[in-house]
Amino acid sequence: MHIGLIGGTGAGLFSPLGDSGCIVEQIEVQTAFAIESVVIKQWQAHGHWVLFIPRHGPNAQTPPHKVNYRAHIAALKQAGVEQIIALNAVGGITAAGGSPGTLTIPDQYIDYTYGREHTFYDGQQMQHCADLGISEALQHVECSRPLDAALRRALLQAAVTAGIAVNAAGTCAVMQGPRLETAAEINKLERDGCDIVGMTLAPEAALAAEAGLPYACIAGVVNCAAGRAPVDGKGQQQSIHEQLDEWVGACMTQSHALLEAYLQQLSS
Ligand code: HPA
Repeated sequence: MHIGLIGGTGAGLFSPLGDSGCIVEQIEVQTAFAIESVVIKQWQAHGHWVLFIPRHGPNAQTPPHKVNYRAHIAALKQAGVEQIIALNAVGGITAAGGSPGTLTIPDQYIDYTYGREHTFYDGQQMQHCADLGISEALQHVECSRPLDAALRRALLQAAVTAGIAVNAAGTCAVMQGPRLETAAEINKLERDGCDIVGMTLAPEAALAAEAGLPYACIAGVVNCAAGRAPVDGKGQQQSIHEQLDEWVGACMTQSHALLEAYLQQLSS
């Protein structure tokens, strides 16, 4: 199987899965959605091919609202992946969403973003839909369950096998960024039913759906959402950036272990 992996904050900490001695190749895929080709790192692990894109570019410089989500999904589809697992850093809003240092496998999201190229069906690129092997005729892709149920189940099973505690479901608010939220915005997101908050699950998940690719997300909770950090003995709340420094590495290590367990499970 060919598996697409899109890494977000902390992707630079990500090392190849499988044998530490495996050969990592770089391929460049030209798509209809960007002048530059998309650079993908690929390697074999546990009998499968992993194709990895760092979402924010090789130097982590591309902000969430400027990521070329269409080019990424198109490149993975053209390169032959059969499913996509996204790694996202998020802030925790509710207890169900999880506390810093834990992983969540969200089952829903609410898209609060604006101005992003969010569909392959933009009225101009229909030929390119055919090139991607998807219908050229306008599709209103179903998003009732936007994160693939079977892939989520498989990740949850792998977590159990590997003894990794994960929060088994949750609704992710997708905010425009790059600024972080106000405390009042987080209160509103909680009233809307959101458990975690990030900046990149939309439009990525819906584009994967349009491309006909099962897509699920491993969300690393790297901070308490704005205004939600516990107060210490001196009445101070840790800043979000202090929390990120503390938790991004731990979430990456756990995501890596979960992916290893998932690949092993696929091979057995
Ligand atoms: N808000 C939005 N995106 C994020 C956060 C957050 O608190 N933490 C990591 N990504």
